[in-house]
Amino acid sequence: MIPGLVLDSYDEADRNAMSDAMDVMVAAFDPVFGEAWTLPQVAGVMMMPGTWLTVARVDATPLGFALVRSVLDECELLLLAVAPLWRGRGIGETLLRDSLTTARRRGILSMNLEVRATNNAVRLYEKAGFEYVHRRPGYYRGKDGQLYDALSFRKDMRI
Ligand SMILES: CC(C)(COP(=O)(O)OP(=O)(O)OC[C@H]1O[C@@H](n2cnc3c(N)ncnc32)[C@H](O)[C@@H]1OP(=O)(O)O)[C@@H](O)C(=O)NCCC(=O)NCCS
Repeated sequence: MIPGLVLDSYDEADRNAMSDAMDVMVAAFDPVFGEAWTLPQVAGVMMMPGTWLTVARVDATPLGFALVRSVLDECELLLLAVAPLWRGRGIGETLLRDSLTTARRRGILSMNLEVRATNNAVRLYEKAGFEYVHRRPGYYRGKDGQLYDALSFRKDMRI
């Protein structure tokens, strides 16, 4: 674990938090695959009730973030990212587990997510107990128009 790592969660469309998340977003997602969101997309989803953004920082420097949207007793992990220089040190897993803990505390019973089929993040989700549900062909559209399949995963938090 990273000394001094702090996780802050935001239920409102906090400008600084979204700006920090965008710094990580731009660095973390390869534009080839078309997975990254724009600031207006993040701001739009933050306006919806039941959405929360968690930013991981050390000394106020953003290193990662997670974005979750909930509806009633279900939620979806919309985005999870860690800045490239800080990967492989447990930040992604810490953000994921924190998101699950927050969801449980809110009475949410399941978490869903979509991930590009060729993304190494699949390993992280399986390690955290997510189960494969189905494949969504052509879910992501890359920069050059190429389509990439997504895999849907689900974690039943009652188990
Ligand atoms: C996916 C991502 C968030 C992982 O963050 P991270 O901080 O490097 O992950 P962690 O160090 O917490 O890894 C936890 C576990 O995930 C798995 N994992 C993470 N990255 C992996 C990789 N590149 N290859 C294989 N397994 C990986 C491993 O099982 C690892 O556990 P272990 O170290 O005990 O083997 C990060 O690589 C990232 O930001 N990727 C780009 C954005 C993205 O694709 N996000 C996911 C889709 S929204």
